[in-house]
Amino acid sequence: MKKIPIIMDCDPGHDDAIALVLAFASEKLAVKAVTVTGGNQTLAKTLGNAKKVLSYIGKRPRLAAGADKPMFRELEVAEAVHGASGLDGPILPETDYKEEPVSAVDLMRRIILDSPEPITLVPTGPLTNLGILFTAYPEVKKNIARISLMGGGIESGNWSAAAEFNILVDPEAAEIVFTSGLPITMCPLDVSHKALMLPGDLEALRKHGGRVSVMVAELVEFFYQYHLAQGFAGAPLHDPCAVAWLIAPELFKTAEYHISIETQGKYTTGMTFADRRFWTDAKPNATVCLDIDRPGFIRLITEACRSYG
Ligand code: RIB
Ligand code: CA
Repeated sequence: MKKIPIIMDCDPGHDDAIALVLAFASEKLAVKAVTVTGGNQTLAKTLGNAKKVLSYIGKRPRLAAGADKPMFRELEVAEAVHGASGLDGPILPETDYKEEPVSAVDLMRRIILDSPEPITLVPTGPLTNLGILFTAYPEVKKNIARISLMGGGIESGNWSAAAEFNILVDPEAAEIVFTSGLPITMCPLDVSHKALMLPGDLEALRKHGGRVSVMVAELVEFFYQYHLAQGFAGAPLHDPCAVAWLIAPELFKTAEYHISIETQGKYTTGMTFADRRFWTDAKPNATVCLDIDRPGFIRLITEACRSYG
């Protein structure tokens, strides 16, 4: 079966780590590179976390560090959610796995332009690396098939009442992405807040006992604490949604919306504004995931964990 060639752009981050586990386990995806951005924690921490997670699951893809701050703003991290390390919970071994001495943008550009078939980009953090890539090297767009991203919120935000973290950290980069003209699959909070890993699902991972299953259980256990305090019944696995849509789109219910990014609003900066008027002449620019078959999604995650032994 022909695999979809992808580049993961992430800010590990607990759910980014699980998205990496899912992507590398899938028979349907060929991960050509992993690029890292500041976001959940500083770039130094997210890069270190990416190296530890990838080494731990036995993968050493092409790897490059990207932006350490948004295009025009200061970096805001999510320490309350992901901890001081950005990946609190499991203790992962140190690794000698090294990133390449090029920027994420240069690595993405080389891989995209050299690829015999169009590449799918899977950003699961702030969109700074993509914003810089499309600005500096617009010619790459001709060999990009799709962007499948986690970000935004149609009904509400999580980092402000109006804005989701990935978009709020770098709204200008998000605007560049959503006006790129490229096909976009958007996995906003509307779907990721339904993509819950429940305590019972955690038990199943622990019962399996494989090293990756146990790592994921420890990641989710930590990640769940913040969300439990907010009243969630489980841990929302935001980033794996962007990977799962590529593997099993039938798990999702979607709508075609025109999404605009607010970059100026006193209360609404970072908002992903969907034009949902049925009479609108605004051409949709995103396939927006709004609902998910949660048990099917969890099955995908647990089968991926088991596949590592
Ligand atoms: O709002 C959720 C998103 O912000 C996820 O990508 C999480 O990893 C954080 O980056
Ligand atoms: Ca993320």
